[in-house]
Amino acid sequence: MSAAVEISAGRAQRPPAEVRHADELARLRAGDDAPRPPGWALSLRAARAFIVGDAKLGITRKFVGDPSLIDRALVSLATSRGLLLVGEPGTAKSLLSELLAAAVSGDSTLTIQGGAATTEDQIKYSWNYALLVSEGPTERSLVPAPLLRGMAQGRTVRFEEITRCPLEVQDCLLSPLSDRVMAVPELPGEAGMVFARDGFNIIATANTRDRGVNDMSSALKRRFNFETVFPIADFDTELSLVESEATELLRRSGVTAPPRRDVLEVLVTTFRELRTGRTARGDEMERLSAVMSTAEAVSVAHAVGLRGWFLHGAPGSAADLVSCLAGTAAKDNAEDLAKLRRYLEQHTAWRTGPQWRDLRDARRELPGG
Ligand SMILES: Nc1ncnc2c1ncn2[C@@H]1O[C@H](COP(=O)(O)OP(=O)(O)OP(=O)(O)O)[C@@H](O)[C@H]1O
Ligand SMILES: [Mg+2]
Repeated sequence: MSAAVEISAGRAQRPPAEVRHADELARLRAGDDAPRPPGWALSLRAARAFIVGDAKLGITRKFVGDPSLIDRALVSLATSRGLLLVGEPGTAKSLLSELLAAAVSGDSTLTIQGGAATTEDQIKYSWNYALLVSEGPTERSLVPAPLLRGMAQGRTVRFEEITRCPLEVQDCLLSPLSDRVMAVPELPGEAGMVFARDGFNIIATANTRDRGVNDMSSALKRRFNFETVFPIADFDTELSLVESEATELLRRSGVTAPPRRDVLEVLVTTFRELRTGRTARGDEMERLSAVMSTAEAVSVAHAVGLRGWFLHGAPGSAADLVSCLAGTAAKDNAEDLAKLRRYLEQHTAWRTGPQWRDLRDARRELPGG
C-alpha cells in the first residue's frame, strides 16, 4: 500500500471548517443573492450568518461573541488592509480566522504557522531542487507557499501567531499588503511579478501573553486593522459552549455518554473563578498564572469525559475533574498547584450540591496531596 493510500484511509481528527460545514456553506451559497466583494465566495451577510449562525436557515452558531466584531472583521477583509485578531490565549482567534477564511474564500488551509524558526521560504515560495538543477528557475520548479498561492488564486491567507516570527520575516508581508504584488526575482520577465487577484487578503492572529504586538514593526502595524477578541463574559453562554463542544469532542472520541451538566457547571465555575480571582459570591481569591481560557475549559471537559468513560464506564465526575485540572493548572509553575489546592479547600465548602462536595473530597488526588 502506498503512503498516500494509508494517509487517506484514516478519518481526519479535525477536518478544516469548509469540510466540517460543507453543507451549510453550500446552502448559504445557493440562497445568497446579496452583492459580494470581488473574488469572494459569499456576500458579507451570508459570511456573517455562517459564523454567528442563523436559526431560520439552519446555520449553527460557531463563534460566540459580539456580532459587530464579525461585521468589522469582514469589512476589513474587503478593504486593502489585512486583519489582525489579537487577544488572550484561548479566546478563539484561530477558530475565527479559520471560519472567516472558509466563508470568504471557501478555503481555510492557506495557513502559515508563525514561530521563532519561520522563514520567508515557508511564507512566500521555495524551489523543487531536482527541477531547479535540471531546468533552472521556471514556473514548474517554483514551489509556492501560502502567501504566493493566496495572491495568485485570490484567496484569504491565514498567518497564525504572527508576532512569534522574527521581525524581518514579518516584514515580507509589507509589499504584498501595500502594493499587492510579490516579486520572484529568479523568474525572468513577467513571471517574476505575481500580482494579487481579487479576493486576496491576510488574517493574522497574535496573542497577548507570549509576545505582544509591540514587537511588530510600525510599518506592518499600519497595514492591518486590529480587532480584539475578548473572553466570553456571560456564565451561561460559556457553559453552553463548553457543553456543546465537549459533547461533540467526546462523540468523536468514541464516548457515548454525554458530559454531566452538574459537573460542567462546577468546571466552568472553577475556570472562571481561577481566571478572574473572584468567586461567584464576590470573595477575592488567588488567580492562577496558567491560562484558564474557554478553550482550556473545553479540553478539560473532554478529558474528564474520557477519563470517566474509559476508566469507570460512566460520565466524568467531579473527582475526575480534579485529576484533569492538575495537568492544566500546574503547567506554568508549582505555585499554581498550591493555589489550586487552597481553592479546593477554602472556596468549595460553602456551596451546595453533591458535585462541590466531591470536588472538595477529591483534592487529595492532586499530585503531592
Ligand atoms: N467565543 C468563542 N466562540 C466559540 N468557541 C470558543 C470561544 N472561545 C473559546 N472557544 C473554544 O476555544 C476553541 C478555540 O480556541 P483557539 O485555538 O481558536 O483560540 P486562540 O485564541 O487561537 O488561542 P491561542 O492564543 O492559544 O492560539 C474553540 O474550538 C472553542 O472550543
Ligand atoms: Mg490560536
